Formats: sequence, structure tokens, C-alpha cells
Amino acid sequence: AAVLTGVAVLGYLLGAIPFGVVVTRLMGLGDLRTIGSGNIGATNVLRTGHKGAALATLLLDSGKGAVAVLLARYFLDDTAAQIAGGAAFVGHLYPVWLRFRGGKGVATFLGTLIALAWPVGLAACAVWLVTAALSRISSLSALVSAATAVPLALALGHREMMLLVAAMAVLIFWRHRANIQRLAQGREPKIGKKG
Ligand code: G3P
Repeated sequence: AAVLTGVAVLGYLLGAIPFGVVVTRLMGLGDLRTIGSGNIGATNVLRTGHKGAALATLLLDSGKGAVAVLLARYFLDDTAAQIAGGAAFVGHLYPVWLRFRGGKGVATFLGTLIALAWPVGLAACAVWLVTAALSRISSLSALVSAATAVPLALALGHREMMLLVAAMAVLIFWRHRANIQRLAQGREPKIGKKG
């Protein structure tokens, strides 16, 4: 139990690194929390107009979830891998470095899924991409991807990750409350637009 607590703490600390804020500041693009939606994710980094910074944020935020899972699986086992991935996801949502005001978890969710079971992760990415291609709305794509992840995991034979995926999906919906409201009012901006 002590080992798994350590895994959770390390996963959390890794996930709590707000790469969007770091990348934006390092590139001299300003304080991300005063831009667009104020969110710390790649979608909002794109609103600075800098595609490279957004791509870097996407890769780093998804990468931290994947790295947490892969390290825990390499040194321990599949249970530890789930705990590490879940903890990294929670770290992104509630980072101690930002007084627990973090992101919406989409990139970290997808990175964690890819590392836990790549067919499920790639399927969730595909759902995001297809929804984005049709709607041009990042938040809607995230919600559709999160909502379909549990059935996808089941259909692909990954019952063991159902609980974790469901918990992450619920948190993604919770963190998108303002987006859901804007979607309902038809006021949610398209990808790359300021609003
Ligand atoms: O990944 C977050 C995305 O779904 C919404 O971001 O900045 O439009 O609220 P944002």
C-alpha cells in the first residue's frame, strides 16, 4: 500500500505540471490564464495564434499521462499503471502549483488511455478527431470522446480499465461545465477562434 501511495503521489506531481502555462510563458506569449477561455490546455494555447506552442502543449500534457502509466507498469504492474495514470489526470485538473486551478484533462486523458491500452486510446483520439472535423469545436469533441470511451473500452475487450475510464469521463464533463453551457447557448467558439 505504501508503494501504491508513492505511485499516486509521483503520478499526481507529474500530472500537475501545467505545460500549457510553462510553454506559453517560455515562448513569451503571455499568461495563458488571461487569454481566451483562461484554460491551461492546448486548445486555449492555440488562441494565442501559435500553432507550435499548442502542439507542444498537446504532446507534453498527453505525454505526462502516458509516461506515468509506462513507468508504473515497467517498475510495478498494471494496477500501479492505472493508479499512476489516474493520479496524473487528477494532477492536471487540480495542480498544487496553480492553487488547484488546473485544466480540463482531455490531452492527459487521451495520453493515459494510449499507454494503458493503445487500441482504446487511438479509438478515443479518432472519435475526438472525427467530431472536431465535423463540428470544429474542441470542447464538444472532448465530451463525445469521453462519453464514448467506456463503451469503446468494453467493445475492445478492456473491462479492467472501465472504472478508471468512467471516473475520468465524469471529471471531464464536470470540468467542461462552462463549455456545456456555452454549447447549449450556441456560443462556443470554433477551434482557433478567440470567441
Ligand atoms: O481540452 C479542453 C477543451 O475541451 C476546451 O478548452 O479552452 O475551449 O475551454 P477551452
